[in-house]
Amino acid sequence: MTGASAGIGRAFATMLAAAGYSVTAVARREDRLADLMTALGPGHDHLVADLATADGLRATADRLAGPYTLLVNNAGAAIHGGFAETSLEDSLAVMDLNCRAVVTLAHAFLAGARPGSALVNVSSTLGFTPKPGLGVYSATKAFVTSFSETLWHEQKARGVHVLALCPGVTATESQRASDVPAWLVQTPEDVVARALRAVHRREGPTVVPGRHNAVLTAVTGLLPRRTAVSLLG
Ligand SMILES: NC(=O)c1ccc[n+]([C@@H]2O[C@H](COP(=O)([O-])OP(=O)(O)OC[C@H]3O[C@@H](n4cnc5c(N)ncnc54)[C@H](OP(=O)(O)O)[C@@H]3O)[C@@H](O)[C@H]2O)c1
Repeated sequence: MTGASAGIGRAFATMLAAAGYSVTAVARREDRLADLMTALGPGHDHLVADLATADGLRATADRLAGPYTLLVNNAGAAIHGGFAETSLEDSLAVMDLNCRAVVTLAHAFLAGARPGSALVNVSSTLGFTPKPGLGVYSATKAFVTSFSETLWHEQKARGVHVLALCPGVTATESQRASDVPAWLVQTPEDVVARALRAVHRREGPTVVPGRHNAVLTAVTGLLPRRTAVSLLG
């Protein structure tokens, strides 16, 4: 479980533990992970790692050699603002975390995955239609969705389920979409409950939590691309 120290990831860790999973929680902030471990109680562990770095990624991939039945690639970050006006270094770091880490950890997990195992890659509705001002982020999520769809097909015969979870706006501390109507905003717990149901029922390859998000995504997909992108902008 990556990105378990906050938001959707913390909700995943909490709800997976409640469902009987033994959770390994990965993130950078040790104090947050320690607090999570206290909340979860015995039988779980954590790993402090920066997944945008080679060392952090290697340490986490090595840990996946253990007998894990579920990997949730949830850690993700965004850079806000016009692409040309923001730091290239920040954009590349977002690509490392949102894409490179997802591919590396998926590879390590699938190397030893047994039938019945599952891989959840947390993408976004912005992976279907990109949002101006979040260009690199949207593109990384399009990558995650596309990558997960092919893995879903490739791993099916092996009995390993792969799913791209594509949430819309979710109330977490990093969420800055203050212009979004309240009825469209989900809680991390709503998102995770939908994801766990999808894992249980082997739904996929993509799942959009929330009826409003699902309808909006379907309608946006019918629009001419330039109209959809302009609307989101
Ligand atoms: N919130 C939304 O509206 C929304 C919508 C669609 C998709 N998503 C996706 O859902 C996922 C979780 O989002 P969230 O809103 O819950 O985010 P969040 O509250 O900002 O939490 C992000 C998590 O990722 C971890 N993380 C960030 N950078 C990391 C790094 N370099 N190495 C390791 N861990 C790192 C953070 O922990 P540390 O800071 O402790 O490392 C934290 O646990 C992301 O993939 C995001 O793109 C979110």
